[in-house]
Amino acid sequence: MKKLTWGMIGGGEGSQIGPAHRLGALADGNFTLTAGALDADGPRGKAYAERLGVAPDRAYGDWREMLAGERDRPDKLDLVTVATPNATHFEITKAFLNAGFNVLCEKPMTMTVEEGEEIVRIAEASGRICAVNYCYSAYPMVREMRAMVHRGDLGAIRTVVTNFSHGHHAAGDDADNPRVRWRYDPAMAGVSGQMADCGIHALHLASFITGDEVRTLSADFASTVPSRVLEDDAMVNFRMEGGTVGRLWSSTIAIGRMHGLDIQVFGELGGIRWASEQPNQVYYTRLNGRTEIIEKGEAGLTSEAQRLSRVAIAHPEGFPLAVANIYVDLAARIRGEASGDLPLAVDGLRSMAAVHAAVQSAGQNGAWVDARPPSLR
Ligand code: NAI
Repeated sequence: MKKLTWGMIGGGEGSQIGPAHRLGALADGNFTLTAGALDADGPRGKAYAERLGVAPDRAYGDWREMLAGERDRPDKLDLVTVATPNATHFEITKAFLNAGFNVLCEKPMTMTVEEGEEIVRIAEASGRICAVNYCYSAYPMVREMRAMVHRGDLGAIRTVVTNFSHGHHAAGDDADNPRVRWRYDPAMAGVSGQMADCGIHALHLASFITGDEVRTLSADFASTVPSRVLEDDAMVNFRMEGGTVGRLWSSTIAIGRMHGLDIQVFGELGGIRWASEQPNQVYYTRLNGRTEIIEKGEAGLTSEAQRLSRVAIAHPEGFPLAVANIYVDLAARIRGEASGDLPLAVDGLRSMAAVHAAVQSAGQNGAWVDARPPSLR
């Protein structure tokens, strides 16, 4: 099968998410890294792209240069990934969609709800794919949980409890740390710090697993490191369209919590829980029953969980392969084949609406506010 061509913006040397994209995109032989504008420092990004095997004439110092160089090529890139800091996502994603490229954008997709609505409209009008990297939804056992809920194993879902709380910004040394600094700078990160950075992954998982969407929410935000303008700790109560009650805690100062993403879903007939730090197991308890541990790779899992599992039972599998699962489904879509549940621009839009609702609520002493984007009310 012909390899697809892939371009990358951001994700330069030393970045947090860049390596996961390269491991993910290249894992299955679907894509070749063909072009890139990888770094805010142009010459550094160009040199790194060349070291990664990009031809010198397709290694760019700036994304606008890349757009100009790539848009009219007969061998047009099949996919462009946007893995820069948040403030640039909208502008870059919009420009590449408008120029006819398929885009995988990092989360949060935009800074405002209006920008999110615009990206959804452009993607629909252009017929291009605009996916958002909600990669936790591509873990095999997250797919298993989604299937269990849909099959009715838990009965009607009453409550979802999810955390994305870690302690990696507890030192408060933002000024000295370029990878942390932008996350609390409204000009770079937007209206929210931790909720937009990590909370939205937890919120997306809540929707993805239950198949329901957030309708209203009430939030309490705190900047526990006083120099931070944006919140580093957020508690959000939410209600879903189907009546499910949601609880979400997202923090960056929770010393001792490492990655810190976990989710529990409680229905009338049972409960399940999963944590990103033990991604191969789902704990399942039936009403009045004992707890069972469902293992990735065991017999009898749903076809989605089997399809997205790459190595045999009990072998560790994790984040880069979850990102790889996003790229597998992107490749299938680009080739016009059936693909699994891909997080799309509409999911990015819903997240932005929830983030802005949380900011509004937190500013009004936790008042309950509508968390839906205007176009989806
Ligand atoms: P980072 O600060 O570690 O790296 C950012 C990279 O982008 C650097 O290489 C920088 O030089 C480059 N860059 C900045 N501006 C650029 C521009 N205008 N043109 C080209 N390159 C540019 O940031 P990190 O943590 O890698 O985050 C990047 C994005 O990925 C953020 O939006 C973040 O929210 C998202 N992210 C998503 C994760 C996920 O689980 N899906 C996990 C971590 C980050």
